[in-house]
Amino acid sequence: MRPNTIWFDRVTSTQDVARRFAHRGVEVAIVARIQSRGRGRFGRYWESASGGLWMSLLLFPDERFNWRHLMNMMGSLAVVRLLDEYDVGRPGIVWPNDVVVRGRKIAGILTEGHRSAVICGIGVNVNQTSFGSSLTGVTSVRLETAREHALPDVFDTLISHFYDYYRLGRRLSVAALVNEYRRHLTLTNEVVRVTVGSRTITGSPCDVDDDGRLVFRETNGLIRRLSCGQVQRLRWS
Ligand code: BTN
Repeated sequence: MRPNTIWFDRVTSTQDVARRFAHRGVEVAIVARIQSRGRGRFGRYWESASGGLWMSLLLFPDERFNWRHLMNMMGSLAVVRLLDEYDVGRPGIVWPNDVVVRGRKIAGILTEGHRSAVICGIGVNVNQTSFGSSLTGVTSVRLETAREHALPDVFDTLISHFYDYYRLGRRLSVAALVNEYRRHLTLTNEVVRVTVGSRTITGSPCDVDDDGRLVFRETNGLIRRLSCGQVQRLRWS
């Protein structure tokens, strides 16, 4: 099971292009060499020069589930498996969906809803060897492996892993998905800062629940379940 895939040279954002296909009701993958207005979570700019894999999957999942969280999990797990296969040492997930290697961000996932569709955007730094001066704490597959990689091969591997997880989710094995996600979660029990809207709280991530919410123990002992937020490690080693 694989969606039709359309490759573009340059787009504003693959999310926007995928959205334009939503009325057709058919799954499709949009991939671009360059995005001029790639976006990340919380409306942030996502640097999308050539060399990275910039893709969006237009999907029509069952409405009974909290697909937004599940997609984030599926996307980040698919990236972790991809990186394992490419011998990028020890990738981990920073809740909810940043994929990091040695504390540096290598991939991000942005899930958006549009009518009955869910658009899962995945950006992976693959062949870049440098980044804009404002971007720190990032890395790429090439920087980690000292090898260049063919983007169509990277895409094929990633999409096949994504669909493995998507099938798992559809077979109602959500618990299996969450368990695997838990295994790759980093920063557990470490003191971090989480920004939720305009509030910042300090404490330790303990777990994720079966809905993908972060179970977070504040420094004052209060346990919260967070649906969204930006986790910041206080100090990367
Ligand atoms: C994040 O970490 O904030 C999420 C980044 C998601 C980036 C991808 S690249 C492909 C797709 N198109 C976009 O404009 N964003 C996502």
